[in-house]
Amino acid sequence: MRSVPENVTPEQITAQVLASFDDAPQDRLREIMHSLVSHLHAFVRDVELTEAEWSGAIEALTATGHITDDRRQEFILWSDSLGVSMLVDALAHPVPSNATESTVLGPFYVANSPLRESGESIAEQAAGTPAWVHGRVLSLDGAPIAGAELDVWQNGDNRLYAVQDPDAPDDHLRGRFATDADGRFAFRAVRPVPYPIPDDGPVGRMLQATGRHPWRPAHIHIVARAPGHRNLTTHIFDADSDYLERDTVFAVKPGLVRTFQPRAADDPDRPAGVQEPWVSLELELVLAPGDPDGEPDGEIVDRGRTH
Ligand code: BEZ
Ligand code: FE
Repeated sequence: MRSVPENVTPEQITAQVLASFDDAPQDRLREIMHSLVSHLHAFVRDVELTEAEWSGAIEALTATGHITDDRRQEFILWSDSLGVSMLVDALAHPVPSNATESTVLGPFYVANSPLRESGESIAEQAAGTPAWVHGRVLSLDGAPIAGAELDVWQNGDNRLYAVQDPDAPDDHLRGRFATDADGRFAFRAVRPVPYPIPDDGPVGRMLQATGRHPWRPAHIHIVARAPGHRNLTTHIFDADSDYLERDTVFAVKPGLVRTFQPRAADDPDRPAGVQEPWVSLELELVLAPGDPDGEPDGEIVDRGRTH
């Protein structure tokens, strides 16, 4: 008969699990698994996790799997609402940098938005106060980047992204725009509004149980891509929005907060087709250098459609 340890103490359990990864062939994977097990076991000890609490955690993870599909990504919502997404972002993009700051992608990105003409509207139906968004994309040295792509998406005044809204056309409030020879871009959007992250699943139950709110401040999402530069995944936040100081996913950076300038209906610069008061937003997006000969780097994962 083979021998098994007589008294399995908590310390021995942790040591056995750590040792089980000692022969993992990839150094990085071994490092990650050792650290994960060390911290996970330390956490269980620290809070003296009860069996009922352990069951509750398994139920929350199971519910997370059940509610996630190709239109809803509850795992990313956990990452966002626990600040992990922003921590990974901060480690990947250390400050200081003179490039425009990055922030979370969020769960509402949908790949292959329509390519639109400069100046075109991304709103395919009424969606709020018109917003004229224009500016330039520049390298760190201030040189304009011609042919950069801006992939933009946002919510409308019903608080919903098109992927959440069964009444909206698929391409509503999203589009891709190219910069001209001077690095300039322009598009018609609408003024975004604050909105709650999806809170009818396990993340919402965590927020409710811990007395947290689900709200995000108003913002427009932009992914900027240009050959020879790093992809920039960011938001532009409305300086007049509620929740700037208490974003539920911790994604506000002061450098990303901008004023949407109120403009009168009869302002001579008003964009074609706008009859009502509107707002304008001027932006300079500065991209960090990447591989000079390569494609824009950094993978953007299509996180599926959430509603
Ligand atoms: C968003 O900005 O679309 C978003 C980001 C994180 C969680 C939920 C939504
Ligand atoms: Fe958003």
